[in-house]
Amino acid sequence: MHDLMLITDDLRHAERLAKAMGRAETCGIHDLYEERVPPEHPALIVSDIKELTSDALVRLRRCLEAMRGQGVPHLLLVHGNAARAEVQARLLGAEAIPAATAARVLSDRLRQAARSTTTPAGVGIRAARQAQEARDFLTQAFFSGAAMTPDIAEAGTELVAQAVHEAGIRDWVRAVQRFDDTTHQHILLVAGLSSAFGLALGLNPRDRHHLAKAALLHDVGKTKIPPAILNKPGRLNPVELQIMRTHPALGHAMLAGAKFDGATLAVVRWHHEMLDGSGYPDGLRGEQIPDLVRLVTVTDIYGALIERRPYKKALSETAALAIIGEMVGRLDGDLVRAFRPVAGAFDAAATGGTPAGTAGGTA
Ligand SMILES: [Fe+2]
Ligand SMILES: [Fe+2]
Repeated sequence: MHDLMLITDDLRHAERLAKAMGRAETCGIHDLYEERVPPEHPALIVSDIKELTSDALVRLRRCLEAMRGQGVPHLLLVHGNAARAEVQARLLGAEAIPAATAARVLSDRLRQAARSTTTPAGVGIRAARQAQEARDFLTQAFFSGAAMTPDIAEAGTELVAQAVHEAGIRDWVRAVQRFDDTTHQHILLVAGLSSAFGLALGLNPRDRHHLAKAALLHDVGKTKIPPAILNKPGRLNPVELQIMRTHPALGHAMLAGAKFDGATLAVVRWHHEMLDGSGYPDGLRGEQIPDLVRLVTVTDIYGALIERRPYKKALSETAALAIIGEMVGRLDGDLVRAFRPVAGAFDAAATGGTPAGTAGGTA
């Protein structure tokens, strides 16, 4: 068994790299085009692939599925187009590093991996890194002022869904709860919880992806809310609350002209609607609220309850479940019950505190 595995399409290059690290004898090297994937579970996987064709990516994913355990880092060496490699690395849950500095970086990483596979806070390294990547993605895609497009949303959804799939919802939630930025934390929590909820409901991959994408976008309108209100370290006053409550319609207007599908638009506009008609912005009732919207409303409120905010601690799983349980009638009771196993997959690492901004309408 090897602690480092190089997956390569150029055996000679990989051998030179192993030698440069002083690992000629102890580093495993796997030929990407070898059909049999060795039964290895290394502490660090490095992809050294010069030609990242679609066939190479399919083969690489197969290798990773077989070899990569939870929390195991994956580094993708960048040989050519850095921007493209960066995108591929994100989709593969990898970190892109320049091939030229690979020997030094890899030596450092091996020392780190040998020390621990978890961070001091008990969050898997992989989940922490993937959450960080997703936060960087949000900063660029949501908060840079650039227009949101279906392609960008697809890439972000893939990033979150893969992270939840690989790291598990428990590690994802813990990694995201460490973020100080309330909106980033909220969006990534709701997207991750929705992805896990879709899996628990037995949705097919297409519907699951659709749900996660709608969840990722649900609060996109908040990017148009003044930062002083959005990031206020306390409860909103009535005027601020009124402004905050414009975010569903703002988000809907942002996406309506950008070729997003109707079901996603409905989630963005109606995720604060309640079955009893007490929600906003359109005061819909019962059957007027589509299923996809109801799903995201449950994860949205639960996510807000377990978030850590400057003025409140994260609520425990039990306390948050009790609150959404009391909201049945406004929320879909079947969905609240179906959500329990998802929430039961982790404890929100909470120590109590007052309920989140849900009551104040900031979910
Ligand atoms: Fe919202
Ligand atoms: Fe929300």
